[in-house]
Amino acid sequence: MRPAIIGPGALGTMLAVKMAGAGPVLVDHYPERAAALDASPLVLEEDGRETACRVRVSAAPPPSSFDFVVITVKSHSVAAALERADEIVRPEGLVLCLANGIGHLDLLRKRQGPGACAAGVTAMGATLIRPGRARFGGAGETVIGPVSNREERKPLEAAAELFARAGMRVRVSPDIEVEIWKKLLVNVGINGLTAIHGCRNGEIAESPELAARLAAAVREAAAVAARLGVAVEGDPVEVALAVCRRTADNISSMLQDVRRGKRTEIREINGEIVRLAASLGLDAPVNREIVEKVTALEAAAGSHPPESS
Ligand code: PAF
Repeated sequence: MRPAIIGPGALGTMLAVKMAGAGPVLVDHYPERAAALDASPLVLEEDGRETACRVRVSAAPPPSSFDFVVITVKSHSVAAALERADEIVRPEGLVLCLANGIGHLDLLRKRQGPGACAAGVTAMGATLIRPGRARFGGAGETVIGPVSNREERKPLEAAAELFARAGMRVRVSPDIEVEIWKKLLVNVGINGLTAIHGCRNGEIAESPELAARLAAAVREAAAVAARLGVAVEGDPVEVALAVCRRTADNISSMLQDVRRGKRTEIREINGEIVRLAASLGLDAPVNREIVEKVTALEAAAGSHPPESS
């Protein structure tokens, strides 16, 4: 099963090193950066060790030649990454999108390209130290599942096997929408607040005031999920606070983006809750305020246009 990974960000770089044994190609849409990355090994820092692997990095991978294409770009770049995936996947292959947020699910469902299509979420943490060098931020489960009931299980199971061989904890779910909502509810609570307050994830759980903001944002999002008929088990506020404690030292991906002056995923995370709430006749004032504050931070930082991962 020949894999390609689209997006040389933290997750893409980590996957490329972990899957190096399967001979992946890492796809970067910037030709100059692709050439520079191709010239030296990719490095993954993990528990004080470094793994360096030669992985092919290309801005122009050959068409129709991959059995498994994993999209790891930021949610605002999924549409462009899907076009690239459609060009390079084999007709009997699989395209898997691991983006944050929920909006991309509609894009995947409407996709007409070759091969099967799946979505997934991962709780594995990664930080990009610089292009070509990522730091593993903690183990976590990766869940993948079909985006429509037309898809066959076979390519998904082969993909899960490849991830497992790369040392990842992976599960195939028949209801990926619920899994995506579970992750979205965590990101709704943590990402915007850490970006606004410039704090590590753990500081939210430690501050009664920030924990209350998290709870209010997550409850608004859970009300949207409930109105859409998405049944998320357990108390999503407790789940989000537990993730804050488990990833206490992490700098969230959104805070990393703000610090680098990159466009954040605020529109696709809290912004999507505001949009969905409005379409359902609900209000989401806490999420709206989070969106406004993060958008102001982006503007102050002069955030760059969308970029892969
Ligand atoms: O986006 C992130 O950084 C992660 O999803 C999470 C769970 C907030 C941990 O940092």
